Amino acid sequence: MPRLQSAAATLIADLQVRFHDRHRIDLPLLVDLACAYAWRGGSPAIADRFAALTEALESHMVKEEAHLFPMMEQGGHSLIGQLIDDMQAEHAAHTAAVVRIQALLAAERAEPAAEAQLSALRAAARKFFEDLAEHMRIEDEQLFPQFARRAS
Ligand SMILES: [Fe+2]
Ligand SMILES: [Fe+2]
Repeated sequence: MPRLQSAAATLIADLQVRFHDRHRIDLPLLVDLACAYAWRGGSPAIADRFAALTEALESHMVKEEAHLFPMMEQGGHSLIGQLIDDMQAEHAAHTAAVVRIQALLAAERAEPAAEAQLSALRAAARKFFEDLAEHMRIEDEQLFPQFARRAS
């Protein structure tokens, strides 16, 4: 196996465990926290946005796992450049969704009875946003360039 392909396979396995698996645990918990906050009078838009992001991110990760990563593990494919472009466009959409949620969270003013829920939601959201940013940064800066160069 060529060294580049082996390095990519190791990186993909790491991304899967550190981020894909982690997001699948964290996002349902975030939706639950956002719903708990809404039940105490908070804005329901936050839970709606997290639910939409959950759906978009799951779809994105499935495309990577079912199509892109196997192509990379096999050393590339003539269509890989287009797929990488699509994934990068989806990363930009995820980032825009995160910015909208961050603005909602920053603007939120909790009722006294919901302050603990809002604090917990903000803390969990901050941790998830950091993980997601690191996940996309590693793909964009370390994984994708190995193949985008070779496909061009
Ligand atoms: Fe990913
Ligand atoms: Fe991705």
